[in-house]
Amino acid sequence: MSNGWSWFIIIMTIGTIIALCWLLFTTARPNGKDETETTGHVWDDDLTELNNPLPVWWLMLFIITIGMGIAYLSWYPGLGNYKGMLDWTQVKQFEEEYAEMEERQKLALEKFVDMDIPSLIKEPLAMKTAANVFSNNCAVCHGSTGKGANGFPNLTDKDWLYGNKPEQIQHSISQGRNGMMPNLNLSEDNVKQLANYVFGLSGEKVDQALAQKGKALFATCSGCHGADGKGNQILGAPNLTDNIWLYGASLESIENVLHNGKQGKMPAHGSLLTELEVRLLTAYVSKISQ
Ligand code: HEC
Ligand code: HEC
Repeated sequence: MSNGWSWFIIIMTIGTIIALCWLLFTTARPNGKDETETTGHVWDDDLTELNNPLPVWWLMLFIITIGMGIAYLSWYPGLGNYKGMLDWTQVKQFEEEYAEMEERQKLALEKFVDMDIPSLIKEPLAMKTAANVFSNNCAVCHGSTGKGANGFPNLTDKDWLYGNKPEQIQHSISQGRNGMMPNLNLSEDNVKQLANYVFGLSGEKVDQALAQKGKALFATCSGCHGADGKGNQILGAPNLTDNIWLYGASLESIENVLHNGKQGKMPAHGSLLTELEVRLLTAYVSKISQ
């Protein structure tokens, strides 16, 4: 605030207080006398308007409030650029309270540092904190309820690309994962045959003649997906027999995967989150998938 405005506010505020005091004391004792007076107004023959001094308790209330106003203005910032004797600011109070809250939170979470995953799952505060961390860091890709979307795995089901043991989940979170389904440059025909075979593994109705041809070609795939198509968690190669599809449950979407390959990427969060947060999330993901 410029000096001019500052002085303007100071003079207006102090001037108003002085004017109020003057008004109060001049009206408290009309004509400087203590005895009852009338204003001279009379209605209905005998209804007289008196001009009594203000009752003492009423006057005291006024004086107290003015005193409080003056005390407030000397302690807190209110008079222009004057900072007040307490040196209080909104920002400082916010920062103090925020630091206090963080400290309290840290203390509350401290006991979770050495807890194992099954115990963490049973701690409501741990799970509540983890849910917040999940909303802020994971929900963009895996959805607010963890149910995922096309290309982003559902974390609440029984199907796992990389496994659901605590150490596997923790690895996925802290070090990230890179799915590598190569583009195998398959011919249009081979793509159709393989897609029919693969979709049929989940019990879907498919063209059996095409599927039989696809079965013969599946040797190219079994190195990663296993001879039975049940997948390989070390590579993140999905189980192709459980009718849970990362990239869509239709012949078309499977054909699309085979034509183009897919490289799903789970970003590493180890350097973005604290160690405790990673462990809380590990417990949280275990919990929502149970
Ligand atoms: C940028 C998007 C993105 C974000 C953010 C993200 N993920 Fe992922 N996550 C993925 C993708 C994509 C995969 C699958 C990787 C693949 O296809 O190989 C994945 C895989 C996973 C897996 C392995 C799933 C399985 O089936 O084995 C876990 C567990 C996981 N994420 C948890 C999390 C958690 C917890 C967070 C928050 C800290 C998070 N993710 C944040 C995209 C993301
Ligand atoms: C080098 C290992 C590798 C080979 C070879 C491979 N895949 Fe994959 N496949 C993967 C991985 C890893 C994924 C998951 C990709 C991701 O997470 O983004 C995948 C994904 C898929 C998907 C999508 C599954 C879903 O849930 O949507 C299909 C279908 C598939 N592969 C079929 C095949 C077929 C058929 C072959 C043989 C022609 C094949 N794959 C060969 C590793 C492989």
